[in-house]
Amino acid sequence: MNWKADYEKKKMSVEEAAKLIKSGDVVWATPNNNAPYTLLNAVGARYKELKDVKLAVQLLIKPLNCFIPEAKGHIDVFTGFKGPGERAGEKTGWKVDTAAFQLHRHDELMLNVIKANVGLMQVTPPNEEGYCYLGCNPTGVTEIFDTAELIIAQVNKNNPIIPNENLCVHVSQFDAIVEVDEEILVSPNIEPSDLDKQVAAHIVERIPNGATIQIGIGGIANAVGYSLENHKDLGVHTELYVEAMYYLTKKGAINNSKKTLYPGKAVIGFASGSKEMYDFLHNNPNIINREIQWVNNPVVVAQNDNFVSLNACLGVDLLGQVSSESIGFRQFSGTGGQLDFVRGAQKSKNGMSFLAMQSVVEKKDGSRISKITLTHAPGSAITVPRTDVQYVCTEYGIVNLQNQSIDYRARALISIAHPDFRDELEFEAKKAGIII
Ligand code: COA
Repeated sequence: MNWKADYEKKKMSVEEAAKLIKSGDVVWATPNNNAPYTLLNAVGARYKELKDVKLAVQLLIKPLNCFIPEAKGHIDVFTGFKGPGERAGEKTGWKVDTAAFQLHRHDELMLNVIKANVGLMQVTPPNEEGYCYLGCNPTGVTEIFDTAELIIAQVNKNNPIIPNENLCVHVSQFDAIVEVDEEILVSPNIEPSDLDKQVAAHIVERIPNGATIQIGIGGIANAVGYSLENHKDLGVHTELYVEAMYYLTKKGAINNSKKTLYPGKAVIGFASGSKEMYDFLHNNPNIINREIQWVNNPVVVAQNDNFVSLNACLGVDLLGQVSSESIGFRQFSGTGGQLDFVRGAQKSKNGMSFLAMQSVVEKKDGSRISKITLTHAPGSAITVPRTDVQYVCTEYGIVNLQNQSIDYRARALISIAHPDFRDELEFEAKKAGIII
């Protein structure tokens, strides 16, 4: 059968496709802005009819209709990384379990932990040969065919075609097809604050022209990106393609000309930003999308000379342990690729890794707490162990902790803490015997 006839045969309504999900199924969906939200919500609408369905999602931009406490036992959700969607669901009292893993091991997560028997994916309409692209996020697509016996595609005309290597899926690989032209969700582009810019300034002066950069998720990392607008010949090798990278490309600061791996091309794992950014990525021959376990592999990252990783964190203790994903026992996001890029950057020739944050967080009552503390709150996950941390930066300065002693780390970190907290931190550090 030719692929066009096959496509027509497999086409059905969203409701019909949602009915293919059975109690006990383990259902996985493409992540973030490439989640098939309409299809997922059609499955969610059936939650009362279903029992013990496990749904694996990642970094959702908006909550699903089954993110309610009443759905417990019907559809239980597992996320690889909490995004705004999962966090919005939690506000209703709904609970989500989060995977603890490094993103370059996503294939292992798919094959050994999730083991989904149903795959839901949002794709582009097929090309002349019947191949569909995976839009902004193909993470997991290379593994789902090894475990799933049912694959449902949500074909969306709004999904950008991002050139890739071996990540296309042929119509013959789908069992059911629904056509839904929902808008591809955008990520809010938050203007960097003055404080963000002060943090960024310490980092930007250390980044040479010609560096290949990775920018992580969150306000500060993006702020550092925007501050690179006067740089030249920057390149991109990144898990997440962010708005700042699109901006730097338009400004001419990024041209990928000095890259040692894939010269001339920005290598990306996935992309989340504005509609204009998605239009820019669409059919762009200077972008190459590859599977996350390759992009994020520290050994691959290190093949880029002059590599710079720029990531945000939530807190650092005086031993130099960095927490970027949880606040005490409250899982805020996930490990993602932070450790992957911290490690890869430091193994790159002339590479550098930066972890950035503002020095304090302001609570609702106006009081402030230091993000540099003697110890982390019980339950706070260590995203980057002290032995992996290199540069840590706040608005008060930047310190290099690479391979440094305990005493050095504590003194260095106190020097970039907010001045109101330095005496107390020093007192505590001496009492604990960290400063000798
Ligand atoms: N104690 C208590 N609360 C804290 C805190 C601390 N030390 N640090 C931050 N917070 C609060 C903030 O006030 C904010 O609260 P709100 O949601 O009520 O406004 C919330 O935690 C998030 O902090 P913020 O600094 O605004 O986060 P962000 O959106 O800029 O993201 C990270 C920063 C670190 C959470 C994000 O980069 C992340 O998840 N990193 C881990 C994964 C990663 O870096 N991957 C890299 C490749 S993409």
